[in-house]
Amino acid sequence: MRRRGIFITFEGVEGSGKTTQIRRLARRLRKEGIPPVVTREPGGTALGDALRRLLLDPASAGMPPLTELLLYAAARADHIHRVIQPALERGRVVLCDRYLDATLAYQGYGRGLPLDLIRRIHSVPPLGLRPDLTLLLEIDVEKGLRRARRRDEALRSSGEGRFEAESLEFHRRVAAGYRRLTLSRRGYRRIDASGPIGEVAEKIARFVLPLAGAIRTERGSRKTAGEHSRIHRSVVARTPRSGARGGAGVGRRAVARRGGR
Ligand code: TMP
Repeated sequence: MRRRGIFITFEGVEGSGKTTQIRRLARRLRKEGIPPVVTREPGGTALGDALRRLLLDPASAGMPPLTELLLYAAARADHIHRVIQPALERGRVVLCDRYLDATLAYQGYGRGLPLDLIRRIHSVPPLGLRPDLTLLLEIDVEKGLRRARRRDEALRSSGEGRFEAESLEFHRRVAAGYRRLTLSRRGYRRIDASGPIGEVAEKIARFVLPLAGAIRTERGSRKTAGEHSRIHRSVVARTPRSGARGGAGVGRRAVARRGGR
């Protein structure tokens, strides 16, 4: 499977501001002449949106964790097949609001399903696709939850409150899970998302712009596929680490997982 684009995912607890930040980053990339493909999970396709309604509907409370896991995986497989993989093959930057790490954090750490089971399911094509970079937006769990619940009240008709209704303990497990994920593997950047929106946006841009800029340079210079992936790997590895807390290097995860694992 040849990949030429760059796949960036955004993760975080409820109310961490991912969606706002993705919107801002997309605007900035468009200004730079690198229009990204912006998508989200669950969702991004007709089937994904239908599964999203089911999964987030408070009326689905009590769904067995395994059912939940398989529905997220089903939505993701369709999303990768129809949206993410084709966009990467066209050389696009893909910004995705949640991805596999959300399943590891919510269904794994939150619900208690074995991480190994989740990873095994995500080794079957097309689920083997891994991001080049994952940005974890960190915010105090209670503060984020309050923000998300306020938003849900304002949008009363959204019908998406099932996870916001989970206990504080559940969300604490999710947050701790995300943190553990960033320690256990490479390819993550932790971003302190508690500050003003503009400051958080700057930190994110510092990681993403050099990566995205490489795509534009490559487009202009007609590289062969081999040269392209060498440049891509070295740019990912050089992505600056300042502006975030902790986290390991980005490059190796992208390399090790390219083409699926
Ligand atoms: P969001 O669009 O507000 O992030 O809502 C998606 C919700 O779905 C959020 O509560 C996290 C949850 N979720 C999972 O539990 N597992 C997953 O794999 C994904 C993608 C999301």
